[in-house]
Amino acid sequence: MSSGLALHSEPAPIVACTVSSKVHHFGLLIEDMETEVGEAWGDLGFDEAREFINALDVGTLEFIALAVREEDEADLGRVGEVINAAHAKEVAVILIPENLSTAGLRELLRLGADDFVPYPLAEGALHDAIEKIARAKQPPPAEVTPLPVSDAPATGHRMDGNSAIFAVQNLAGGTGATTLAVNLAWELAHADKKNPPSVCVLDLDLQHGSVATYLDLPRRDIVLELLQDATTMDTDGFKQALVHYGDKLSVFTTPAEIVPLDLVGPDEVNALIDLASQCFDIVVIDMPRTMVMWTDTVLTRADVFFTTLELDLRSAQNAMRFIKACRSEDLPLEKMHYVLNRAPGLTDLNGKNRMKKMADSLGVSFSTQLPDGGKPVMQAGDNGETLAEAAKKNPLRKEIMKLSDGLYKAMASEARAKG
Ligand SMILES: Nc1ncnc2c1ncn2[C@@H]1O[C@H](COP(=O)(O)OP(=O)(O)O)[C@@H](O)[C@H]1O
Ligand SMILES: [Mg+2]
Repeated sequence: MSSGLALHSEPAPIVACTVSSKVHHFGLLIEDMETEVGEAWGDLGFDEAREFINALDVGTLEFIALAVREEDEADLGRVGEVINAAHAKEVAVILIPENLSTAGLRELLRLGADDFVPYPLAEGALHDAIEKIARAKQPPPAEVTPLPVSDAPATGHRMDGNSAIFAVQNLAGGTGATTLAVNLAWELAHADKKNPPSVCVLDLDLQHGSVATYLDLPRRDIVLELLQDATTMDTDGFKQALVHYGDKLSVFTTPAEIVPLDLVGPDEVNALIDLASQCFDIVVIDMPRTMVMWTDTVLTRADVFFTTLELDLRSAQNAMRFIKACRSEDLPLEKMHYVLNRAPGLTDLNGKNRMKKMADSLGVSFSTQLPDGGKPVMQAGDNGETLAEAAKKNPLRKEIMKLSDGLYKAMASEARAKG
């Protein structure tokens, strides 16, 4: 690293800078910068950086790593000026926030950082951000160009003015919520051959979102913007943020980077659901594992809120806590459907017995039981394919298809009753 004025006399050309009030506070950043660019970087304070960048020729500096701490929040204007100066000289900005308030973070993101990696830096996170910036400078590769409009799934509004909304949340990690969300959405999109409903998956598992992974879809940068500005976005803006899986599913993925769960609040989530239901007949929402400020927003809007769990103590205890929390908040528990994943088979009497005990002790019934589908389930996800395509006869797929048929029939008869 070279520091301050030494920057100008350093023989190796400087390609990057850290910008912070105190670089030594960001030890992991120093290490990562050394790994990524060796000696070819400098460190600057906010004011220094602004002046330094203003004096640069366009194209001489690749990026700045802008590290902003809680203490810097009192004067975010100075930080904003650095971002503006960088933009003017086509210098990419990697924002590295530490413990910033949601409002502060929003403000900086709004000013337009090119990428965003929270501090402490996760292994490889800075490397990925630098690669992403380098890629962004290249012309876009063919596979991420948006599908021509005619290939994109139809959007419509057939369900008598009311889209059906299904949400899925796991009560313990890895109990199959995303697998269910993705495959249920696919089956619903195929539930009516003659008049297929339009289906959208909203991945709101902002920190661990894996819908894009399970369907091998790119993540659009505009998603982050839309999440924050959902209340002022129109359906055209919303559609631009979607990516498409074949011609049957549209997906609102999570942003490429981890963002705080409270980056959005009930208003943004309500607005997103409004946008999705204006454009699609069916909206499937993959929820984060934890309870958030907007869990009740989704629970209130959903027609059915599926929670996945397995036959073990961890699931039982989490379910107990979840139900208790919902009760104390007066949330509509009647919408909750408990899905027992990796449920015991018909002949597993011991397992059946344990299942009954667990249901009794929770005071719930397992309205859906999903069998263990073995390795092909994970493999389908890893290959970015739905079960229907990768393992058509898999027992898990068959059960999800049954669930989808039941839901679709209920929707159709409700629409008929209203019509
Ligand atoms: N019924 C099942 N049979 C076999 N594998 C499953 C089943 N349900 C989920 N899996 C696998 O378990 C892992 C976690 O599933 P995932 O849907 O990501 O869980 P969650 O979203 O609840 O964290 C994935 O690898 C998935 O393929
Ligand atoms: Mg998940």
